[in-house]
Amino acid sequence: MPNSDDFDSLLVNLDSRSYEIFVGMGLVDQAGKVILPVLRQKRVFIVTDENVAKLYLERFEKSLDKENIAHNSIILPAGEKTKSFDFLNKILDAMFESHCERSTTVIALGGGVIGDITGFAASIFMRGIDFIQVPTTLLSQVDSSVGGKTGINTRHGKNLVGSFYQPKMVLTDIETLDTLDKRQLLAGFAEAAKYGLIDNLKFWSWLEKNGKNALNSDNAERHSLRRYIVMKSCTAKAKIVEKDEQENGIRALLNLGHTFSHAIEIEADYKILHGEGVAIGMVMAFSLSEKLGYCSSDDVIRVKKLLESVGLPTTFQDFEKKDWNADNLCYHMNRDKKVKNSKITFVLAKGIGQAFLNSEVSSNDVFETITACSAKLNKH
Ligand SMILES: NC(=O)c1ccc[n+]([C@@H]2O[C@H](COP(=O)([O-])OP(=O)(O)OC[C@H]3O[C@@H](n4cnc5c(N)ncnc54)[C@H](O)[C@@H]3O)[C@@H](O)[C@H]2O)c1
Ligand SMILES: [Zn+2]
Repeated sequence: MPNSDDFDSLLVNLDSRSYEIFVGMGLVDQAGKVILPVLRQKRVFIVTDENVAKLYLERFEKSLDKENIAHNSIILPAGEKTKSFDFLNKILDAMFESHCERSTTVIALGGGVIGDITGFAASIFMRGIDFIQVPTTLLSQVDSSVGGKTGINTRHGKNLVGSFYQPKMVLTDIETLDTLDKRQLLAGFAEAAKYGLIDNLKFWSWLEKNGKNALNSDNAERHSLRRYIVMKSCTAKAKIVEKDEQENGIRALLNLGHTFSHAIEIEADYKILHGEGVAIGMVMAFSLSEKLGYCSSDDVIRVKKLLESVGLPTTFQDFEKKDWNADNLCYHMNRDKKVKNSKITFVLAKGIGQAFLNSEVSSNDVFETITACSAKLNKH
């Protein structure tokens, strides 16, 4: 184990599927030592993408060599398109060709795309083998590496095929964020800010004070600020997942802003990053809450202000597209996989840190909110 000053740890408590999240500095170089206790054989198979491989694969492998852990790897193209049946097949093939066994552990070294497809591959290879998440984007560190949702996209939509499959460990090296581009960093920030809106006003206020500094790549304090953000986010997500692992109830709170964002992402042909869509969607969710009398206009302004101040979009009009319209967005929302008995469950809020679920929102109110949002927000 590395020195405990180098990292924080957190247990995700799910009975026999419990695991630890380690968050710290320079963990890529200490990975072999940290993961050794959870390996069933001294052998791993690494899945990564071409960007991450260039930056971190050699260092990661060196840390394995130090502990005499054997390793094979596959390097996939970067990007959302990789989350497909084709690449799933390629991973499984490569694993068979490298003679992986039931006790081999699979490592997902990369962002959410690599984490999602690798977790899914691990869940079906010989009916399920262990896997470890090593998230390298802020989005994957604060969100996708924790909670066990794995999957791929199909031509029918995003994340439609997959499984709930928890990792054996999450190993988060904050320093990897130093090589991430600003737009990706901001997209991850939106997901972290979401936890403040759901149930933690104190965290939201902290982000108002420190968010900009955390994102500033010239700030000497950025590592400790980012470490705090990742720990707070993982703690928040773990708490929810522990209560509702398979999303039969409160886990849906994590979808704050997401019903809007999925529709926006589809309309933008995925040229908007998911986190950017979530930023816009969270403003819309608060505007809808205000319209329905649940929260104040001050809350909406406060949500918008923080997101804008760090450089996130807060309206889809921030993106060039000739024909954004509320009808199309509503159409996509009604086709979302989260629609149940033709009803959409919205995450609304009674204020910052007071989110709740509501399945009784009328489509007219949604339509009017989208229309009003684009007009009102555009004036600023
Ligand atoms: N499983 C879940 O609970 C969950 C939750 C949220 C999102 N997701 C999924 O996560 C995916 C998005 O994840 P993402 O935003 O991490 O995208 P990503 O994995 O595509 O990574 C974004 C880009 O950053 C590059 N990159 C990764 N780490 C880097 C680093 N340290 N330095 C430089 N470049 C680096 C990647 O190569 C890629 O080009 C989506 O598919 C989404 O559906 C899953
Ligand atoms: Zn999300």
